[in-house]
Amino acid sequence: MTSREGDDVYVCICRAVTDGQIQAAVDDGAASVGDLRRMLGVGGQCGRCARAAKTCLAAALAEQTCRTGFGPAGDGADDARLPAPA
Ligand code: FES
Repeated sequence: MTSREGDDVYVCICRAVTDGQIQAAVDDGAASVGDLRRMLGVGGQCGRCARAAKTCLAAALAEQTCRTGFGPAGDGADDARLPAPA
């Protein structure tokens, strides 16, 4: 169950947790639904959001992985798979 308000989508209605908050939690180290429960309370009431939270977590983790791969430590300057900067 999700609901949209502004740019964020509510993932957990009971605890009023949005996908943006889940992304922020992942940025702060969350790596499992249990982490989201401890950090944000996701799924701690009715539990109907568990599947949506898991999907949102996976998307957030994938985005973080992408950012890690192309972040400051791996900016691609010496990555043979990328074309040389112009
Ligand atoms: S919708 Fe998340 S605990 Fe109820």
